[in-house]
Amino acid sequence: MSYSRIRGTGGYLPEKILTNAELEKWVDTSDQWIVERTGIRTRHIAADDQDTCDLAEMAALRALESAKVSASELDFIVLGTTTPDRIHPSTACLLQARLGNHGAIAFDVQAVCSGFLYALSIADKFIKTGEVKRALVVGVDIYSRLVNWTDRNTCVLFGDGAGAVVLEASTTPGIMSTHLHADGAYKDMLTVPARVVQGRLKGEGFTKMQGNEVFKFAVNVLSEVVQEALTANQLDHNAIDWLVPHQANIRIISAAAKKLKLPMERVVVTVSEHGNTSAASIPLALDVAVRDGRIQRGQTLLLEAVGGGFTWGAILVKY
Ligand code: ACO
Repeated sequence: MSYSRIRGTGGYLPEKILTNAELEKWVDTSDQWIVERTGIRTRHIAADDQDTCDLAEMAALRALESAKVSASELDFIVLGTTTPDRIHPSTACLLQARLGNHGAIAFDVQAVCSGFLYALSIADKFIKTGEVKRALVVGVDIYSRLVNWTDRNTCVLFGDGAGAVVLEASTTPGIMSTHLHADGAYKDMLTVPARVVQGRLKGEGFTKMQGNEVFKFAVNVLSEVVQEALTANQLDHNAIDWLVPHQANIRIISAAAKKLKLPMERVVVTVSEHGNTSAASIPLALDVAVRDGRIQRGQTLLLEAVGGGFTWGAILVKY
C-alpha cells in the first residue's frame, strides 16, 4: 500500500507585527480583553506590496528546501486560500510559475480556515492512487484584507501568513486517514458576502461573523471529528503525541483538547503570536513545532480545523 508522507515543511510570516496595544488606538478594545477572550497578543500583517503568492512562495521554498526536493520534481500543487491574488488563474498556477515548475497539476481549494486540511486530503488521495509522486500543499491567506479595521468584533482576531508541506509517496505511513465535512446551512454564520459583477464589487467585502455561534459550533464539530479520526484508526487519545489545531482562539483550542483528554503540553499553540491566519494556521504551527524540535519523526499528529462554509475536518498523520 502506498502512503503519503510529509517530507518537509515551511512557513512564512510577513515582517510587520501588529500588537494589541496598537489596536487599542483604533477600536474600543483592550489588550486584556483580547488576551482573555482569544489568547492573541500579536499578529503579522502583509505589506501593501505583498500578495498572497509572495507569501506562498516563501513558505513553499522553505518546504522544498527542508524536503530536499526541487520544484521541477513536483507533479501536484494544491493551495488552500480565501484571498487569491486574481479571480483566475488560481494562486496555485501563479505559484507554479514563480517556482519554475511546468506541467504539474495545479489548483486552489476554497474551504476558508479548513483550506489546508482539504488541500492535504486531496493531495493524499492523488498520491494513494499512484497518479502523483510528489505534492506541494500550501495554506496561505492575507486575511487582514477581508477585515473591517473599525469592527472590533473581527479585526482583533486575524493575521496573515503562509505554510506549506511537501508530500511524497512512501511505503511507510504517512497520512493515516482524513475526515472532511461541510454544511452550507451555516453559510451566514461567518461570511464575506461580496461578489464581482460587471467589474465591480457587489455587496460587502468584509468579514461578517456571529462570534458566539461560531465559537459553540467550532467546539462541537471539532470534538466530533477528532473522535471520528481516532475511532477510524482504533486509537485513543493516548496515541496522540501532538494535536496541531487550527489557531482561531485559545479557548476553542483548549476546549477541544480537554474533550480529547489531551494536556495542553501536547498541543501546538501559535495563536498568541500569529492570530488566526485562516488556511495558513495549521501548516505554520506544524512548521514551528517541527523546526523547534518538538515534533519528531515517527510521532502521531492529529490536525483539526473548522472554518467558513461551514467546513471542518481532522487528519491523523504519522510524521
Ligand atoms: N474588545 C472589547 N470588547 C469586545 C470586542 C473587542 N475586540 N469584541 C467584542 N466585544 C464585546 C462585545 O461587543 C460584547 O459586548 P456587550 O456584552 O456589551 O454586547 C462583549 O464583548 C462580549 O461579546 P461576546 O461576543 O459574547 O464575546 P465572546 O466571549 O464570545 O468572545 C469572540 C468573542 C472572541 C469573537 C469569540 O466568540 C470567538 O472567538 N468566536 C469564534 C470566532 C472565530 O474564531 N472566528 C474565526 C473564523 S472561524 C474559525 O476559525 C473557527
